[in-house]
Amino acid sequence: MKSKVTVVGAGNVGATAAQRLAEKELCDVVLIDILDGVPQGKALDLAQAAPIEKHDAHLTGANAYEASAGSEIVIITAGIPRKPGMSRDDLLATNRGIMKKVVGQVAKYSPESILIIVSNPLDAMCHVAMEESAFPKHRVIGMAGVLDSARFRAFISQELDVSVENISALVLGGHGDTMVPLPRFSTVAGVPITELMAPDRIESLVARTRNGGAEIVGLLKTGSAYYAPASAAVEMAESILKDKKKILPCAAYLEGEYGLSGLFVGVPVKLGRNGIEQIVQLHLSAMESAALQKSAAAVKELVDAMKGMP
Ligand code: LAC
Repeated sequence: MKSKVTVVGAGNVGATAAQRLAEKELCDVVLIDILDGVPQGKALDLAQAAPIEKHDAHLTGANAYEASAGSEIVIITAGIPRKPGMSRDDLLATNRGIMKKVVGQVAKYSPESILIIVSNPLDAMCHVAMEESAFPKHRVIGMAGVLDSARFRAFISQELDVSVENISALVLGGHGDTMVPLPRFSTVAGVPITELMAPDRIESLVARTRNGGAEIVGLLKTGSAYYAPASAAVEMAESILKDKKKILPCAAYLEGEYGLSGLFVGVPVKLGRNGIEQIVQLHLSAMESAALQKSAAAVKELVDAMKGMP
């Protein structure tokens, strides 16, 4: 029997994630959105591409959550995206309301599912999802670090004119302006970039990574990035569905790790059939650790702001 994954939100991120899940033949996909006809139409369109793309994933679109029942993974992309000039944090109140409604339904119909949260502001939305679902912490995972690290990897590849496949990178912290790209843990064929690039070049790639989402919002003007965010969410889903146990930077609920407690922050985790199977603790330098604490403080500010909301 094929696995079943639901994608909530049939916008650009959700539909692209559905496409990638199906084309990699990882699972059957249910696409859910409140807009009448949109998830149905996109699912039908994707199903009609299947004979050409050569996969047998079944795609279903729906407005109600009955269709999603018994999903192993639910990827939540629902929410409004940024407009130029907005920060991810400006989305807090609106997307919190949407997240609460979505997660209530998801938890009702797929009580054993693993949630991959994509909506922004990412780390705060993970808190809402965990609270609303009452799922254990290993089943609520935020997509941010994989995306931010992929951006860093793409920029390193362009800078050094070397295959993206040779590059691994690590970006920790919250998915915001304070995110923490770690050059010391970012390598080309195993060699840290700190040995391959001048400090000012690294600094400029770090800055571009931090601004990676906003750069695309500025170009698109009517929405935010979706190809890379969808790829990142699907890489996480794949590691879970295939029990690959990949180590990926994801937003995870910390209880003492990295000196942080009661907060979702991006850290390296092992993703397998049970969701987060391990939080990997790195030995950070004093500066790296201070940057992570600063980023966590920015997440905490948003979480605290939500406490005052009705
Ligand atoms: C970005 C949005 C999806 O970083 O958060 O592009």
